[in-house]
This record gives sequence, structure tokens and C-alpha cells, in this order.
Amino acid sequence: MTERNELSHRLAAAGQEHVLQFWDQLDSIEQQRLTQQVTMLDIPLLQTLVEPSGLHHDWSNIANRAKSPSAIRCDSTENRFSRQEARNQGERALRLGKVAAVLVAGGQGTRLGFPHPKGMYPIGPISKRTLFQVLADQLRAVRRACDAIIPLFLMTSPATHEETIDYLTANQYLGLDPASVQVFCQGTMPAVDVHTGRILLEAPDRLSLSPDGHGGTVAALARHGSLKKMEQLGIDYIFYFQVDNPLVSVCDAEFIGYHILAGSEMSTQVVAKQEPGDRVGNVVEVDGRLQIIEYSDLPLEAAERRHPDGTLVMWAGNTAVHVIDRAFMERAQSEAILPFHRALKKVVTIDERGEEVVPDHPNAIKFERFIFDLLPSAKNSIVVEVREEEYFAPVKNPSGASKDSPNTAQAAMVRQHRRLLRAAGAIVSEDVCVEVNPLFARDVSEMKLRLASGVCIDGPTYFASVEK
Ligand code: UD1
Repeated sequence: MTERNELSHRLAAAGQEHVLQFWDQLDSIEQQRLTQQVTMLDIPLLQTLVEPSGLHHDWSNIANRAKSPSAIRCDSTENRFSRQEARNQGERALRLGKVAAVLVAGGQGTRLGFPHPKGMYPIGPISKRTLFQVLADQLRAVRRACDAIIPLFLMTSPATHEETIDYLTANQYLGLDPASVQVFCQGTMPAVDVHTGRILLEAPDRLSLSPDGHGGTVAALARHGSLKKMEQLGIDYIFYFQVDNPLVSVCDAEFIGYHILAGSEMSTQVVAKQEPGDRVGNVVEVDGRLQIIEYSDLPLEAAERRHPDGTLVMWAGNTAVHVIDRAFMERAQSEAILPFHRALKKVVTIDERGEEVVPDHPNAIKFERFIFDLLPSAKNSIVVEVREEEYFAPVKNPSGASKDSPNTAQAAMVRQHRRLLRAAGAIVSEDVCVEVNPLFARDVSEMKLRLASGVCIDGPTYFASVEK
């Protein structure tokens, strides 16, 4: 059978032969590119996904059955474990080298309006350190405090991979030992026509492919041999986080400790929502299992439901920080636990004559998996609340936006660092901009060792990394 016939045979089984309609006009390199893309397709999977009945979540029904999740709360005296107990457990696991960090950075920052991988955004209020650097400094500070190697697995997408590698290389891996960093690229899924389910073409020799969502982390870690590598390194726990939150406490010992004490397979960190419509995933309990309903899927009436004491039923906002057992991640991969979500999008494509079509309304369905859909399958999963002002300031929107923008994140960083300095005895007035690198001081006790009590900081100051 010729190559074309072989491809055609595969595609015909799913009614997708049109993908080869320009074959005879392609040169051999273009034919090779198309062959490679078609060979990578999981045709049976695609067939089930394009079925109209393939994927339907009845979110209002799910939301009606949803209850507040039980959680380890910031202000409760009735938590199952004490903070100190949790911190001790977490620090022990870190010191013993049982924790790996997984950072997802495949998104393109379209909403932010930044034409590079989001991790390259200069977020430091004074230092202008990038998001990547801010997170790497945190990881280095934890490594230093625990005297352990915590390997970093960094996920990119085809759109961010090369630029991320170039950036890391040009910046000496941000001070991390390159041998302890593995950068891997996530998979893709084809976009299909919203009416016909046919795969869209981006060009005569190219399918319209997009990243398969952060849930693609599971398959990508397995495909790149990283889950095996983690096992060889003796890793039991994966600390999962996103590139867009400069306040995240990377490899937070307390959170890891709660996860271990509860014997949880997947734990999720939340903040208390301010408003019913906050643009975060809602962690809820449905039929006794934890799950997350995305803000975009949550009917307003359900979001506004309150308990008799006035508190929101759906109070728990997903910070997208999770601790996941490595063994559970392996099971999730081998049992293909994660479902796909459909998203209606506008996708530039070509028509039967090969001419570009720029749609003015959503013409395509994209398929994505979400990492948090592992939650309902995890045993003993727990929810841990943290204070938003200390842990969560995502960068999603362009500068100037009133929420989740670089300005709001920088302001949150400055406030956090002011609190740290003041708690260590420094005098800092409200109008003074400060920024603290965790390699200067990670906490109040370290800060006290570095600064004389009563010192007055009266101008913008960046407390840069210092040797231990
Ligand atoms: C996400 C969560 C939301 C949570 C919020 C917290 C989803 C669907 N929603 O919202 O519940 O409250 O973060 O900030 O995730 N990424 C990849 N590959 C992909 C897609 C995304 O690596 O294919 C990475 C991005 O680089 C980013 C992160 O995943 O670091 C979040 O993705 P994004 O699509 O921006 O989710 P949000 O809508 O911000």
C-alpha cells in the first residue's frame, strides 16, 4: 500500500479523508509533515469525541447536587491535623527527596496580551524578575532550606517549547542545576468543525492542532519517561502548580504534609471566594466525591446559593495547586481516567480551495483535558484552604485590568513582602515599594537574621538573593 493509501485507509474509518484533499499538490517535505501529524492522531478516540452524544456534562444538574466540600480551613480549631504536624511531615518528605515539582507552562498568555511564553513576563515589582525566575527562586530557596534536590518537570506546548528552552539556556536555567530540570512538551488535539465534526486544516499540509489542556500533563509525563524517572528517583509526591501565580508557595511543606497525613492521593488548595461569580474553579462535593466545576460552567443561581449563616455553598476557589501521588498519576495514565472537555472557539482555517477563512463566530470545537478531573477518582482526597493575600495572585488579564492582572499581582507581592519585613521588626510605610527574593529570606525567622530590628525602609528596595 502507498503511504497515501495507508493514511487514507486510517482516516476513512472515521470519515476524515478530506484531510488528504491537497495531497497531490504537496511537495515531499509537506507530505511528510502531514503524514506525521495524521499518524499521531488517535482516530478511535477522536471518533468518540465528535459523536454528538460523546461528551455531555449536565452542569446544572451537577451543581444542584453539589455541596460545600469539607476542608482544612485557615481559621478552624477543628482541623484533623495541626499545622505544625503537617509542616513537620512535609519537611521530612522534602528532605528525604520524595517530592518533585511539576510546573505547567503550555498556555500562550493570549488574554494577557504578551507575545511570549507567559513565564517570561517580567513580574517582579522592582527586580523585573520574570514569572519563571520568581518561581525558580522559590524552588531554589526550598531546596536550600531542605538541603535536598527537588527535581523540576516543566511542561511546555508546541507554541512555547522552543522559546522556553532558549530562555532557560540563555539564563543558566535560572540558577537551577540543569540536570535537575526536565522540560517536556505536551500533546495536541485536532480542532474539528462545529457542525460536521471534520478535522480542520490550518494549511494544505497541516492540521489545526492545539494543546490538549493541562490534563495533558499526565500523558506527557508518561510519554517522556518522566513518571518512570520519578519512580527511579524515589519520588512519591508531585507538587503541581501553574506558571501564572507569583504568590504560589512552591513545594509548600504544610500542604504536602496534610496530603501525607490524610493518606490522600490528590489534594487541592483553595481560597475562600470573595464573590459568587469569581473566575475560579469551584471545588465541591458531589455524591461524596470531590470535583471542580469551572466558573464558566456554573449556573449563576447555583453560584449564589448560600448556607443559612450567609456563607456561600460554593466557597472554595481552585488555586490550581495540587499535590498528587506519583503512583496515582501512573494509575490515572494507564486507566485513561481523564475525560475531555469541549470548548467552542474561533479557529482560522482553509476551505476546499485552500483559501483562508477567518471566522466571525465560533466555528470549531477544541478538546482539552483538565488535571483537576483526577479528583473524583482519587482516594481520600482533601481540600486545604489558604489565605488569598498570601498565596494567590494570578496573572491572567492585561496590565490595567482591575483583577488578575500584572498590576494586581505586583501589588499583592509588595503587600506580602511588606508584611514579612514588618513581622521581622522593620519599619515600612504603606507607600514604600519593597520586593523580597526568597533567597534573601523565606520567612520571618530568616528575615530576623538578615535585618536589624527597627530598621527603617524608606525608599523602594529589592532584597536580592544572598548566599546562605
Ligand atoms: C485555571 C483553572 C481554574 C483556576 C484558575 C486559577 C482551568 C480550566 N481552570 O483557570 O479552575 O481557578 O486556573 O488560576 O484550568 N496550560 C497548559 N497547557 C494547556 C492549557 C493550560 O500548560 O493546554 C497551563 C497554562 O500555562 C496555565 C494553566 O495551565 O499555567 C492554566 O490554564 P488557563 O487556561 O489559563 O486556566 P484559567 O482559565 O486561568
